[in-house]
Amino acid sequence: MRDFENVTLTSEEETKRQYAFMERAREYVREKEQQLGRKLTFHVQTFGCQMNARDSEKLVGILENIGYTEIDDEHADFVIYNTCTVRENANNKVYGRLGYLSNYKKKNPHMVIALCGCMMQEPAVVEKIRTSYRFVNLIFGTHNIYKFAELLCRTFESDSMIVDIWRDTDKIVEDLPVKRKFSFKSGVNIMFGCNNFCSYCIVPYVRGRERSRQPQDIIREIEGLVADGVCEIMLLGQNVNSYGKNLENPMTFAELLREINKIEGLKRIRFMTSHPKDLSDELIYAMRDCDKVCKHMHLPLQSGSSRILKIMNRHYDKEQYLGIVRKLRQEIPDIALTTDIIVGFPGETEEDFLETLDVVQQVEYDSAFTFIYSKRTGTLAAAMDNQVPEEEVKCHFDRLLREVSGISARKAAALEGKVMPVLAEEINEHDAALITGRLDNNAVVHFPGTQDMIGNIYNVHLEECKGFYYLGRVEEDV
Ligand code: SAH
Ligand code: SF4
Ligand code: F3S
Repeated sequence: MRDFENVTLTSEEETKRQYAFMERAREYVREKEQQLGRKLTFHVQTFGCQMNARDSEKLVGILENIGYTEIDDEHADFVIYNTCTVRENANNKVYGRLGYLSNYKKKNPHMVIALCGCMMQEPAVVEKIRTSYRFVNLIFGTHNIYKFAELLCRTFESDSMIVDIWRDTDKIVEDLPVKRKFSFKSGVNIMFGCNNFCSYCIVPYVRGRERSRQPQDIIREIEGLVADGVCEIMLLGQNVNSYGKNLENPMTFAELLREINKIEGLKRIRFMTSHPKDLSDELIYAMRDCDKVCKHMHLPLQSGSSRILKIMNRHYDKEQYLGIVRKLRQEIPDIALTTDIIVGFPGETEEDFLETLDVVQQVEYDSAFTFIYSKRTGTLAAAMDNQVPEEEVKCHFDRLLREVSGISARKAAALEGKVMPVLAEEINEHDAALITGRLDNNAVVHFPGTQDMIGNIYNVHLEECKGFYYLGRVEEDV
């Protein structure tokens, strides 16, 4: 199969090459549809983070380009799972669902099953699928997702399982088809990979080394999105604060934000995730100065104990973290703060846990994602022998969750009665007389309105806080 050989091409040449494969794949789909006398369907199931969600939009873009029709369950002719492996339960979900898929395939022999994403970068996972899930047709990883069209052709032309996993890549291929899930908002990758190696985390092993996209490619993509009706973007990277360090002409994330803020027609800019260790003053000032940048910072704490943070390899301590929070609030007084916290990291004691609770009480997060530590093979923490007993972890987890929920509820209720800017995003799913929009801090607001309001920002009086969302009424045009 010479035409599938890996040759070093520029990004533009690779894009062209993939479009040629899409053409070829389209032929297969057309032939199969003629043979079966019906349309071929597909379903993409996404696990994990926003990066995976964005990757799935790329998969959907290609599947639609070659002629498949999307359906929203797994009774499809082509099913692909875009997997996550950040915690053990993410993996278990995939194995569980694969069991169902084998039954579906028995009923529909034309069914093609594919697996991709972070979990596939783990050799043990691929081995398990090769031996125990032999009905899977295609496996690929995070580094060669841009070759999806090519891999589809290989799958259509082969009777055996196609497995193509790369250890890493330095390549970024631009301009392949993408089908957005939402018409009004979109994720935009600004960088890929991670170099931080926090000791509990598998992401650097499965997403490879950090690489930034060229600023002009990012801006061009956003301009295109805005022209297509997008008013809010979420800039995506495992650590956006180290954006641009390795570019030929280095650029900071703060500089990039200021450039993006100039894009006409764009209404809101969000970003994720910001690692506290390199959150610069320059970024705080850029957030303060840029009117389109949401006054919301997701600032993962992971632990409030300086001792644990050191073993986690996070490169900041409790005081430094609290210092950043102070500085953020000083420059941007009503900034919303959210976080991620891990409970039960190896060796975590009651005192360490109390330090975490202390930070939670001091910072008063608008919301916090709390996770039970999950041992990931290959990470430094997995080799540590002082794993915390399950009951102790569970007890700490429940205490933390209670604290975090109490604070979030108080913070949400405190906005009741206030007038806040809300971006009108879509017609309410249950009541067509209502618009569903979001505050800067991402909280949902329902208010009376009409289709023509979508994409605009309104000052909305938050009349009633319903816990996770608000009911409101427009005060005036902004
Ligand atoms: N790049 C982001 C995090 C990506 S993973 C950052 O540095 O903040 C999302 C979250 O999953 C992490 O913030 C962490 O809280 C959690 N997480 C990562 N590995 C984990 C593990 N082994 N066990 C439990 N939670 C984990
Ligand atoms: Fe994982 Fe740390 Fe990288 Fe975030 S910064 S993806 S937690 S290694
Ligand atoms: Fe999961 Fe991969 Fe994201 S491991 S959290 S999908 S980067």
